[in-house]
Amino acid sequence: MSEHQKKTIFSGVQPSGKLTLGNYLGAIRNFPLLQEEYQCIYCVVDLHAITVRQEPAALRRQTLEVLAQYIACGLDPEKSILFIQSHVPAHAELAWILNCYTMFGEASRMTQFKDKAAKHSDNVNVGLFDYPVLMAADILLYQADLVPVGVDQLQHIELTRNIAQRFNGVYSDTFTMPEPYIPKAGAKIMSLTDPTRKMSKSDQNPGGFVLLMDKPDDILRKFKRAVTDSDNRIVVRDDKPGVSNLITIYALATGQTIQQVEEQFAGKGYGELKPAVGEAVVELLRPIREKTEDLLKNKDYLEQVYTAGAQKASALARKTLDKVYRKVGFIKR
Ligand code: TYM
Repeated sequence: MSEHQKKTIFSGVQPSGKLTLGNYLGAIRNFPLLQEEYQCIYCVVDLHAITVRQEPAALRRQTLEVLAQYIACGLDPEKSILFIQSHVPAHAELAWILNCYTMFGEASRMTQFKDKAAKHSDNVNVGLFDYPVLMAADILLYQADLVPVGVDQLQHIELTRNIAQRFNGVYSDTFTMPEPYIPKAGAKIMSLTDPTRKMSKSDQNPGGFVLLMDKPDDILRKFKRAVTDSDNRIVVRDDKPGVSNLITIYALATGQTIQQVEEQFAGKGYGELKPAVGEAVVELLRPIREKTEDLLKNKDYLEQVYTAGAQKASALARKTLDKVYRKVGFIKR
């Protein structure tokens, strides 16, 4: 199939900290799966990251680390476009235009904004409020058909669709209507210490999350201490969030269905489940960690990847931006 006929996938990950098992199972794991059939575009969204204070040296390091992890997780820079958001100014330019087609009321309803504003009450900046509009610009710039994300990003994709529909309604068809691609299992991996909350890199308690770069001993310890419940049955059930989370993680790490895992552990206790999940995650993450470490030693290669990626992305983004500028009535330069 030629590049022109292929459908487009776009997604992004923030370099605002180390990536977690939640980021991997909910999103990144799915990125390489469709590499052959789709035109895939994956971005490290550094513009998004600065909506929360970042230490500059750490941001630079983490941006390269996310890029290296994309490749370590199976993305091939020859097949997919991998780039850094701030290298393609069209993202910020389209975001400005889309700001003028986004209602204050609809942006105010975004739950991630409300959560982050509560968490960073000393820094509720306008960028944090505008974050979902920049995300809409990311997606619409590339006329993406599909956006692989975890469940926490669904509301932002709904907003993107609303903005696209409004713009298309005023100026005739301009943007492709994107669909979310949410995995059946793993779309919301929960914290190991409080399984009613999602696993997040910004959790105060490092026992709650597993990082892709965690050492095997740390991973095993975190799973041994994972919160479960007092009934010792190993089944997925709404009133057993901790155990359900462990079963989901184990199923994904070993390539089994939930039912197969429930059968494997029937009659067994948490004392057997927890170390088994830990071991499976160690083996799942080992090659990713090792490959990432190798890639980070080769900065020249990473630079080649992100430079070539930004060139390809810019060319695609320019086409959409030119069309948008013309439609809204700007004079051609
Ligand atoms: P970010 O960087 O917070 O997370 C990256 C991806 O990981 C998913 N995720 C999870 N999935 C399952 N369980 C969890 N506990 C978990 N935690 C995170 C997220 O849903 C996400 O898919 N706004 C986005 C980044 C972004 C973007 C975009 C995504 C910017 N522009 C355009 C798609 C398209 C974000 O904050 O992701």
